[in-house]
Amino acid sequence: MNGLRFLSTGRCVPARIVTNDDMSRIVDTSDEWIRTRTGIAQRYLSGDGETAVDLCVGAARQAMDRAGISPEDLAVCVVATCSPDHAAPSNACLVQAAMGLPENIPCFDLNAGCTGFLYGLETVRGFLTISEKKYALLIGGEQLSRVMDMTDRSTCVLFGDGAGAAVLTLEEGRLWHADLGSRGNAEVLWVNGPGPGPCTIHMDGPGVYRFAVEALPTCAKTLMAKSGLTLDQVDWIIPHQANRRIIETASRRLHAPIEKFYQNMERYGNTSAASIPIALDEMNEQGLLQPGQTVMCIGFGAGLTWGGALFQW
Ligand code: ACO
Repeated sequence: MNGLRFLSTGRCVPARIVTNDDMSRIVDTSDEWIRTRTGIAQRYLSGDGETAVDLCVGAARQAMDRAGISPEDLAVCVVATCSPDHAAPSNACLVQAAMGLPENIPCFDLNAGCTGFLYGLETVRGFLTISEKKYALLIGGEQLSRVMDMTDRSTCVLFGDGAGAAVLTLEEGRLWHADLGSRGNAEVLWVNGPGPGPCTIHMDGPGVYRFAVEALPTCAKTLMAKSGLTLDQVDWIIPHQANRRIIETASRRLHAPIEKFYQNMERYGNTSAASIPIALDEMNEQGLLQPGQTVMCIGFGAGLTWGGALFQW
């Protein structure tokens, strides 16, 4: 199997921090309710004039600078998102324009809800196998504030804006196992529109919870079976940062210590397709990810989709 290697990562969030107390001045909620149900303490929300593409470009510039590669060597640029600035053109094409990426490469958005970054990894892996160019730019970027209903306390407290990016290359013989799937469900989680009325997030909270606490451990077990590794041999599990209780339940079901699961939803809220690349960048920056470590990323989200990747850092 030819596996992806992360050359670099980057992240970008809006300047404005909105705490749970700030949210309690907008809807009937409390810091205590949000923290105990979700583990979230604050989130970043865009200000006037800030776009999703701004966030994507901020994260992508950082990743490209750190990778030290020429844009001419990129084979593809993909943005995983379910909250693009426009239905068309894609955020990826607008990133291409803003960063002056070469014209002879495919640039497109991919929507797999909160699982987008995992779908993106397999997508760029495919492109790298057929391209003569060596590198891929993959961004998970969301401006969920554009689809948050600020009168619906059951959803608006959960989400945040942000983007994470990675520059990747393919290496022969490198550890790589993936598992992607979808259930074709539009009842549990959806964003309506475009059409009459505002585009907003609708969610059956308990339905999402039930799906997530099954999908996360099942995906982890599938990756274990495919790789022949045990969870003891995995250094980090980096799950989609939806909710602390989902991660704690998954940890119990897998009999894996909670310390193995990286968590940062306290500071960002749920940033959908951006949550895993933001987590990777934070961990990278803090030196938590070391070359040779075995890492498992697992996402789950609207669709209902799930996706996992097991690889070496
Ligand atoms: N503040 C205060 N009260 C609230 C809030 C809020 N922000 N939101 C809902 N409530 C109320 C409801 O109105 C309801 O009140 P009622 O009983 O009087 O009708 C009550 O709280 C429901 O409370 P609980 O039963 O304790 O809620 P529950 O334990 O189901 O937790 C939650 C709700 C957190 C949404 C849970 O179902 C959950 O974690 N679901 C997963 C959702 C999720 O993570 N979504 C992320 C997006 S999807 C993704 O990323 C894949």
